[in-house]
Amino acid sequence: MSTFLLSNIGELTTNARLDADPCGTILDAAVLVREGRVAWAGPRTQIPDAMASDDLTGVTVVDAAGGAVIPGFVDSHTHLVFGGDRAEEFAARMAGERYAAGGIRTTVAATRAATDDDLRRRLHALVAECRAQGTTTLEVKTGYGLDVETEARLARLAAEVTDEVTFLGAHVVAPEFADRAEAYVDLVVGDMLDAVAPHARWVDVFCDEGAFTAHQSRRVLEAGRAAGLGIRVHGNQLGYGDGVRLAVELDAAAVDHCTFLSDDDVFALAGSRTVATLLPGVEFSTRQPYPDARRLIDAGVTVALASDCNPGSSFTTSMPLMVALAVREMRMTPAEAVWAATAGGARALRRTDVGVIAPGARADLVLLDAPSRVHLAYRPGVPLVSRVWKDGEEG
Ligand code: NIG
Ligand code: FE
Repeated sequence: MSTFLLSNIGELTTNARLDADPCGTILDAAVLVREGRVAWAGPRTQIPDAMASDDLTGVTVVDAAGGAVIPGFVDSHTHLVFGGDRAEEFAARMAGERYAAGGIRTTVAATRAATDDDLRRRLHALVAECRAQGTTTLEVKTGYGLDVETEARLARLAAEVTDEVTFLGAHVVAPEFADRAEAYVDLVVGDMLDAVAPHARWVDVFCDEGAFTAHQSRRVLEAGRAAGLGIRVHGNQLGYGDGVRLAVELDAAAVDHCTFLSDDDVFALAGSRTVATLLPGVEFSTRQPYPDARRLIDAGVTVALASDCNPGSSFTTSMPLMVALAVREMRMTPAEAVWAATAGGARALRRTDVGVIAPGARADLVLLDAPSRVHLAYRPGVPLVSRVWKDGEEG
């Protein structure tokens, strides 16, 4: 059913700017979906004349029963293809250990040992988990293979579930290259990039302590760009560093984490097109301080929220949880957080067809079992997502 009228919506978040409201809120609204796209969205009293007359014949009317409708979440940062888990590492952290980049190698070993079918089964289960919680657009990274064959394998698997595949061969230095980081970067920008680029849209690098230096990161990003990939960066997660500066200089679509930012970093972001993607699941799961979203928003930076779902630093697929954490811990208003988890994610992927409910956009819609989007933060941990449509198809 990709043609229908979703009506009796108590509160519609369109993200199509109406006056000063960035969420473009319409009360008592309806959305007309035709062939998987939004044909019209507006007040229910203004359902187009055509709809009110004969043309309504044959168009199914879905009753939202006064619930809130928001655009499907755009989760612009995940690492969903991996083997094993790291529950023990999490438990050790909760007993006082510190999070470090080196834990990634534990997942690399488990991922290399897994068969395609194992990885596929886990990936599809996680994607289903995302969808049930309202995520309709997903970015998925490689980065747990760190050799040519496994990175290509992970990219092919990721491409089965999304067009937004990111090559993250430069996640950490592969175990075989201990103390030979430059040689590993040679491999990443050479054979590994050649093998992965045909399946990917983006290149990413972890520019932080215990991962890659600014110089090494630049090599990876420039090689990726020369291969036709767009740029994203993991930066400023574990301490102050060069990630943001590099991302802005290279016009990256997004720099993700942004936990430790200098005033210069904030200033650079504010004057750029680069989105700051905040990942509060990481701070929740590592007990690091949360990034200060208020400081970024007040400076004029575009902020996105994403789950960073991965087995080490944030093993959750829940975008509603990200909204709740952002509101409670990062000084975002509920409206800002919902915008960042939908339209913000779309900006971080440089997409205009998602994250918005407006004519021409994909009909990616989430109906909440709640009268307003505020409930996503007000009722944390409660499964409020009641129905999800992607491209006008439910499920
Ligand atoms: O985004 N920061 C680097 N990568 C992941 C963590 C991966 C892991 O610990 O396995 C992240 O937090
Ligand atoms: Fe990440």
